[in-house]
Amino acid sequence: MTKIVNVVGARPNFMKIAPLHRAFQKKPQLESKIVHTGQHYDQKMSDIFFDQLGLPQPHYHLGVGGGSHTFQKANVMLKFEQVLKEEQPNIVLVVGDVNATAACSIVSVKMGIPTVHVEAGLRSEDRSMPEEINRILTDSICDHLFVTEHSGLINLAKEGIPSNRVSFVGNVMIDSLLHFRKKANQFAFSSIMNQPLNKPTDMHIASKEYILMTMHRPHNVDRKEGLQAILSIIANATVHKKVVFAIHPRTLNNFKKAGLWANLASIEGLILLPPQGYLQFLKLMDNATLIITDSGGIQEETTFLGVPCLTFRDTTERPITVELGTNFLMEDLNPETVRIQMEAILKGKAKKGIIPPFWDGQAADRIASIIVKKYGRLGGIIGEQINRSIQERSAA
Ligand code: UD1
Repeated sequence: MTKIVNVVGARPNFMKIAPLHRAFQKKPQLESKIVHTGQHYDQKMSDIFFDQLGLPQPHYHLGVGGGSHTFQKANVMLKFEQVLKEEQPNIVLVVGDVNATAACSIVSVKMGIPTVHVEAGLRSEDRSMPEEINRILTDSICDHLFVTEHSGLINLAKEGIPSNRVSFVGNVMIDSLLHFRKKANQFAFSSIMNQPLNKPTDMHIASKEYILMTMHRPHNVDRKEGLQAILSIIANATVHKKVVFAIHPRTLNNFKKAGLWANLASIEGLILLPPQGYLQFLKLMDNATLIITDSGGIQEETTFLGVPCLTFRDTTERPITVELGTNFLMEDLNPETVRIQMEAILKGKAKKGIIPPFWDGQAADRIASIIVKKYGRLGGIIGEQINRSIQERSAA
């Protein structure tokens, strides 16, 4: 058997690992285990995703929690090394660009374990983003890189990575979306709206009659000017539609610390919700008129769903969502630009967009097949002998 250890750490990892774990289980040659570093730990940021995505409880939970990036990464590295010593996997698989991705790939590569990165090659060219550093580090050391969009191939070639270490496979996050879209749409809006964090006068929303919002990037929410920009964006949006804002813990804490919580909570027409489960959020996305966000993954999900997306960032590591999809960037990070774009979209001037190549629900199966072909170990007594001799030669 070829043993794969899959790493998850933060919310956007869970929906990427779920289809991979399913695809690995379909291959009799593969044994798939999950390690959760614990970067995200709240029930609403972590456990609910395991339940909804049908993931088993992680085989290891490192319980690292919050803290500075150095604290998180250093603790993950120490604990992950112990897991790898115990498990002795044949492959480590990391996804995305969170702290767990970079920390675990360093440990695994240093221990001589073939390490693969899913969602490789994305670059925002903005090194002030912690994720950009995680992406560059991870891609530069991993053995095999699985790419979601064409720009990934170009970026990796520019960085000198040989093409035989790169496969263009599509997008595992879209695998999850396709797998769960029908189930998500079975949720009633009323069941999602039942725990608002403010006191909206009317909590009734209907399909294509609301704007959905998320914001959590440090650049937008760790500065008072960023929080004030968010207040202006919401005030402008509620003139036209109700706004549903699923608020990330970082953003909530920062509004409170900056003394702006009451300003936010009292905006008429705003419904403030805690972080949502995967299915509830998919329902909210699929039925929104428009989404305003600074998330990475939501740019891709809205492109797939054909929902207009205004991304409150001036760069994106996912340019296909602008070139082919429904995403717009806000180059000057000005609430006024958001208002102008928003009003154009509400007047029916949204671009239609098309679904990028290979975003077809098959990405995880492609990855599983490549892994079996490249790293699959042979079965039976003769296979075991060959595998042992390969191991001895690589240890020598
Ligand atoms: C992390 C990822 C980011 C991803 C985002 C999705 C990195 C560098 N960043 O950012 O790429 O888009 O997750 O959410 O890995 N907190 C809780 N409960 C939790 C988790 C976090 O209250 O379950 C609070 C803590 O105060 C924590 C803060 O949120 O300090 C920020 O969490 P952290 O994991 O450091 O970064 P994110 O902003 O979530």
